[in-house]
Amino acid sequence: MLKVESVKSPKAAADPASLHKKMMQLLSSLWVTHAIGSFARLGLADAMEAGGDSAEALAKAHGLVPDRVYRLLRALSTCGIVTESAGERFALTPLGRMLTSSAPNSMKTSAELLTEYNGEIWSKLDGALAGGIAFEALKGKELFDWLHANPKEGARFQRMMVEVHSPETPAIVSAYDFGQFKRIVDVGGGHGMLLSAILAAHPGVQGTLFDLQEGIDAARRGEGGPLPGVSFIAGNVFESVPEGADGYLFRHLLHDYDDDDCLKMLRNVRRAMKPDARVLVLEKTVPTDDTPGPGRWLDLHVMLLTGGRERTAPEYQALFGKAGLKLNRVLPTAHPAVEVIEVVAADARPA
Ligand SMILES: C[S@@+](CC[C@H](N)C(=O)[O-])C[C@H]1O[C@@H](n2cnc3c(N)ncnc32)[C@H](O)[C@@H]1O
Repeated sequence: MLKVESVKSPKAAADPASLHKKMMQLLSSLWVTHAIGSFARLGLADAMEAGGDSAEALAKAHGLVPDRVYRLLRALSTCGIVTESAGERFALTPLGRMLTSSAPNSMKTSAELLTEYNGEIWSKLDGALAGGIAFEALKGKELFDWLHANPKEGARFQRMMVEVHSPETPAIVSAYDFGQFKRIVDVGGGHGMLLSAILAAHPGVQGTLFDLQEGIDAARRGEGGPLPGVSFIAGNVFESVPEGADGYLFRHLLHDYDDDDCLKMLRNVRRAMKPDARVLVLEKTVPTDDTPGPGRWLDLHVMLLTGGRERTAPEYQALFGKAGLKLNRVLPTAHPAVEVIEVVAADARPA
């Protein structure tokens, strides 16, 4: 779902001053996230894109206090979101432009949501280490039920998925021969961006998009791109999965669920798939050594958000085995946050 770079620990022999500086950086990183979130949510990046270049002008247009807006901009200039020039004039940088609504690589909704419930759940980490799901303690419902009950939030969630996963999509499409399939079902395919890119590269393949209603609605709005000839099926993977395809995609769905729930959906896929079908789990395996990567942080995030987890290849292997499937191979992609984990029926003949 989200990507976070690992923070390298300081060298063992670091002096006390460097250690103190490093610790202060770590402890105050929340300030940066929240400043960026407010800048995006209040529309200040959009206003700057439209020509606003002073705290006075931006504050006036948004009913804010000029001195406070100035202090926000001055702080954001230290992390490359805006630049400040003489006369207290500010300009958006290419990085800051990503917080506008109109940027092709916009991350505005992600900036907002990571400082709303996706941020609030982290304040519940202490309690979550004793069990339970932080999001449910916060909102009284499971994430996907809450999104269903709040359609505006359902749409914002899908928008965030498009923003966060866009750079992975071309990397996945070039890492695997999707042209071998007659029919692909994208399970939990949401907005449909991955299916759209696969069908653009392989127009002969038939596509089915399967998701909860909110995902199907986003895809029908065209948020993930064109989906020519695709059948849209709103349904629940815990009940059943569309039958008879030779390719089933699961991008960032398994990590949203615990092992018991993953088993239910994998068993449903095992029942629905053709005997020689391939199931492609598009996630990043957590390394079993201390290789850095985004997975260990995302693991905590999904633990708080949905009770899900990131998994090592042996953990995936064990899960697949219980569902009558087996891990065939793990292919890297050019994107660091995703691999193609190819899974086949446990009794499938070797290709
Ligand atoms: C983390 S998002 C990933 C979306 C998309 N695959 C992507 O890579 O951007 C998980 C998706 O799974 C869908 N989903 C969650 N639970 C589901 C269920 N029980 N049945 C069907 N779809 C589900 C959500 O609606 C959402 O679109």
